[in-house]
Amino acid sequence: MGPAFEMLFRFQLISEYMLRLLLIAFVLMCQSVVGVAHCFADANQNFDSKVLGVLESKCADCHSGNEVSGGFDLADLQSEAAGLEQVNEQVNEHWTRVFQMLVTNQMPPSDADPLSRAERRLVISRLEELLADSELILEWKHKLMFPEYGNYVDHELLFDGSISDVSWSPSRIWKKSPAIFDSLADRGMGFRPGRYGARNAKLAKLKQPFTIEEKAGIKDFAAITLADSATLGTMLRNAETLVDNHLAGALHQLRVRLEGPISESELPTDKKGKPIQPRFPVTPAEFESIVLAEDMATEAQIHAAIRRMYQLVIEQEPAVEELNKYHGLMRSCVTQGGQVEGLRMMLIAIAVSPQAIYRIELGQGNVDEHGRQLLDASEMALAIAYALTDQKPDEELLNAAASGQLNTRADVAREVTRYWDDQAIKKPRVLRFFHEFFGYDAAPSVFKDADRFGKDYRGVPERLVEDADTLVMHIVQQDNDVLAELLTTEQYFVAHSGDNDYEREIHDALQAFYDYYKDKPWREFPYKVPAEYMAHVRSIHKMFAHANGNVTKRWMKYLEQCDKAGLSHLPMGGGRSSGRDYLITYNLDEKTFSFPVEQPFVLNPTQRIGILMHPAWLLAHSLNLDNDPVRRGKWIRERLLADTVPELPITVDASIPEDHEQTLRERFAVTREQECWRCHVKMNPLGMPFELYDDFGRHRRVEKLMAKGQTRPVDSRGFLDGTGDRDLDGDVASPIELMHRLAESERVRQSFVRHAFRYWMGRNEMQSDSATLIRADRAYVESGGSFRALVISLLTSDSFLYRRVAGS
Ligand code: HEC
Ligand code: HEC
Repeated sequence: MGPAFEMLFRFQLISEYMLRLLLIAFVLMCQSVVGVAHCFADANQNFDSKVLGVLESKCADCHSGNEVSGGFDLADLQSEAAGLEQVNEQVNEHWTRVFQMLVTNQMPPSDADPLSRAERRLVISRLEELLADSELILEWKHKLMFPEYGNYVDHELLFDGSISDVSWSPSRIWKKSPAIFDSLADRGMGFRPGRYGARNAKLAKLKQPFTIEEKAGIKDFAAITLADSATLGTMLRNAETLVDNHLAGALHQLRVRLEGPISESELPTDKKGKPIQPRFPVTPAEFESIVLAEDMATEAQIHAAIRRMYQLVIEQEPAVEELNKYHGLMRSCVTQGGQVEGLRMMLIAIAVSPQAIYRIELGQGNVDEHGRQLLDASEMALAIAYALTDQKPDEELLNAAASGQLNTRADVAREVTRYWDDQAIKKPRVLRFFHEFFGYDAAPSVFKDADRFGKDYRGVPERLVEDADTLVMHIVQQDNDVLAELLTTEQYFVAHSGDNDYEREIHDALQAFYDYYKDKPWREFPYKVPAEYMAHVRSIHKMFAHANGNVTKRWMKYLEQCDKAGLSHLPMGGGRSSGRDYLITYNLDEKTFSFPVEQPFVLNPTQRIGILMHPAWLLAHSLNLDNDPVRRGKWIRERLLADTVPELPITVDASIPEDHEQTLRERFAVTREQECWRCHVKMNPLGMPFELYDDFGRHRRVEKLMAKGQTRPVDSRGFLDGTGDRDLDGDVASPIELMHRLAESERVRQSFVRHAFRYWMGRNEMQSDSATLIRADRAYVESGGSFRALVISLLTSDSFLYRRVAGS
């Protein structure tokens, strides 16, 4: 990085504004989750004896006297109790361990008498207070900001209505998502890389600066907020590339003006030796006029250039201070490096400004009686647009913001509803939620040995993901009992676009194509189909307009095969390639299966139902060579039951024996050891039912053992607990039974609401979000399970509308 750029960076990043933001963000990160717990602390003198009383009754059996499990002796606590108030100074290791065991739900073990909710809350809040300044607690609080720790916020407390606090989100800056950048870059940021030929090395492509979270789960959290140096470095290179591309055309003109046209001998030549004239993206007029100006640019010219750059990379209007700031920057650079260099620096500065990197949600609207600030109209417009799309607010939303029509909950409800209902507005964030929630879109990233598949595996996982997407969006469109449908639907899409009219049109066109050609000499067609046939074929459907001889032959062979086998003439699923091999992942016979034109269709409900038995989900949650019952169980425990599983300690040898004569379930028997089972009891019984499928997602009755030729009947039993509902918890015979039970559970529904909350708020729930969650859950239930109602409720909630500097 050259010195000029370093100066620039400092100018941007250490500007007071930025620092203020970063500081706020930091304080918030540490405080927002912490604050709330304190309200339970009791000033009562007897308090600590109450805490000890709880531990005495619930832990002493295994942690006192001769029986001291895990090297933890309750007596140590009791003897320290007298000095409890002073522990702040020197962190008490015993208490910290107790805290960890309790917040991560590891103690008491699941077979012992559990703490009541009140007891648990009492002990935890007291410990939080005692250990407030210890590093471990701070680290713990920090962890709670991240998606994988969301479930540690007490579920019952969130939904039982006992919290009367108002909801809000911390004032925050939020790193833009990779998708927002992609969308901006796709729309060109004023130029399209690659279109002007790579000969001019400066016309390089823009690179994605925002790192993509690799971990499964909800990804775009405001807490993961600070752009790291790699991001900033890429931003800067992008900014240079972008600005140089924008200026290249004007600079070329300037050069021609000063030095005359480039002589042909200077130009690069093509293969035939012909000189290649340089081509450039069109320089925006506001920049061009400054580059070509004979005199010093006027203030109006510079402001126009600033505005234009804002449109290109930030998609917002600059504020007056910003106009002044960049105007000043340009003027001072001009004195050092001349007008063009000054312009260049100024444009680059805008492209690496905080607004280009972050979404800024301070809450700059009115303050209410609870000390919360409403997002102001332009913050609100952005928040709504980014909630559902990856683009800036549309015209109507911007107009609403500009004309004072975006200041109330009703205003927001109106705009969100309009966005949701307008089919013309693409809303990629909706499907992305389901990707992040279910994780089935990871199917293509699990490496599989194609030989074991026994057929062509290329493109199989991708097609399965497409099918799953179609199914999810269909269910969202139906908008009835969405979660239960997702978990238990008997209907699937296979190689279908989800649009029955379209599929019918394609089907009929192929039928007509086949009927027309079948008696014609199509087998002898040269590359160019004789014109006498093309006239009719073109009139059948536009997709045949360019069907050359080879394509015609390929299609006809395929259609002929289908015809002979009596299969529907939509074998290609909306014109896609004809690979039928992937059908066996659904246990469909690729030779005899006839694609229904109308979909979804009932597949085979005795074999599979819902998304978790969709081969895409099963594949995504499998290992290279086998099923992955542990992580499947963990997924259900965390995503559907809003529960937690302690992290796998590095000291544990997490391996199962390689016994060639045993089923996978049998090999997992080692986790029955007490030291393993206290965690694995939460996962294995939920994941084992999916042994009903092989690791490609194919339903099976017998499991092939590693020992050649040996098989064993599949055992798909499991055990459900943690729904908080006696009628639902208990043994299950199959994953199908498991899903039906889960789909009926209130806990599961609320877990879904919590995950939707996280996705749309960009953070974990706090206890003060209780009101928002209860309202969203009610909106969902009262609308008969409408996902639309759920999202609209979230996006009009106090948690979405209000900001507060935490701790104030
Ligand atoms: C039914 C017996 C039982 C009860 C009741 C019980 N524990 Fe434990 N605890 C164990 C066993 C066994 C271990 C060690 C093995 C393990 O790690 O699973 C252990 C380990 C621990 C450890 C040390 C873990 C570590 O890795 O540092 C702590 C701390 C602890 N327990 C706290 C508690 C607290 C607090 C309670 C009451 C709220 C409690 N236990 C109740 C059986 C029990
Ligand atoms: C404190 C909780 C905990 C304990 C104790 C524990 N595990 Fe696990 N184990 C996990 C978690 C969580 C996972 C899933 C890890 C992941 O998500 O990557 C796991 C995964 C596994 C896996 C699958 C690993 C893989 O890559 O496929 C095996 C095998 C396993 N554990 C065996 C054991 C055995 C054997 C013991 C006892 C000696 C044990 N575990 C003790 C929490 C635990």
